[in-house]
Amino acid sequence: MHNQHFVSAQQITKEMFDRYYRLALKLKKISQTEQGRRYLLTTLEDKRALLYFVQPSSRTVLSFQNACYLLGAKVSEIRDVSLTSEAKGESNHDTLRTFAAYVDLLIVRHKSETLVHEASRLYDTLKYPVNVVNAGSGTDEHPTQAMLDLMTMEEHFAPSGGVSGKTICLVGDLKRGRTVRSLSLALRVFPGAKIIFVSPEAFSPRDDILTELKKANLPFSIERNLQVAIPQADVIYMTRIQDEYDGKAGESSQVDMRAYSLKAEDLKNMRPNAVIMHPLPRREELPTTIDHDPRALYWKQKDNGLWMRGAILLSLWGRENLNFE
Ligand code: NCD
Repeated sequence: MHNQHFVSAQQITKEMFDRYYRLALKLKKISQTEQGRRYLLTTLEDKRALLYFVQPSSRTVLSFQNACYLLGAKVSEIRDVSLTSEAKGESNHDTLRTFAAYVDLLIVRHKSETLVHEASRLYDTLKYPVNVVNAGSGTDEHPTQAMLDLMTMEEHFAPSGGVSGKTICLVGDLKRGRTVRSLSLALRVFPGAKIIFVSPEAFSPRDDILTELKKANLPFSIERNLQVAIPQADVIYMTRIQDEYDGKAGESSQVDMRAYSLKAEDLKNMRPNAVIMHPLPRREELPTTIDHDPRALYWKQKDNGLWMRGAILLSLWGRENLNFE
């Protein structure tokens, strides 16, 4: 038997996004009343999840944890490898096997790009089902972030056809930023979507993503000048430099990222209905002075994380039919 895993944005289809989007909105609505919250607590009450987050996280870990609480799933947590048997030399394989004895779902954030795939393959060989969700795999992918980013865009652009047909400008460290990599892959399923990649040469998007976009006939361009891209974009998606992945050469310190920062005066060059997004955490690329602007959607993204991750959990277990009006 093959289990349900969500490990890559390659898995996202338009039908899947539409379904999860509707479910996330429904979850949000049901949770507004006490009766609704009590009902939601029963939906996953027989399930147990492990949050295996051994890279830093605030929003992702808390939104998954609280989505579990909202739906009644029980949660265990490992946040530090140095406090596990891995510190005594246990292999990834044995660690993953051990997890499977206790929980129905592994939600994993790890510096490894492959561990999450190893886990899903291993769990497919077990007699009892264990699901796997990728909450960030090194510099490779962050597919649940892509889903909540798309949800935020779809809501904002609901009056003008949603994400389809929009031009998304991705800015910053596009080489090592896993959020933009997963988002680029996910955008393939939206008819008429276009991408403008804006980064310094050293942090250009990797060929694997560009190859996938070409295969899917998604039009994209690579632009070095943020000022040229701003007036063409419906979404300006900013990201921080991923300097935790620097090698000995200290790649980040060799690049001047100031040209890839948004300034308050740039807002006047945006399209009237365009928005600014960011997966957070931010640094100097996104000034706090624009937070009050109605086009700044990044705190909305953070809020949607809870609802979209709740929808993902329900879908993994085929519990999408919420019988609550
Ligand atoms: C991102 C990540 O971990 O990749 N954070 C998040 O989950 N919202 C972005 C980042 O760290 O830059």
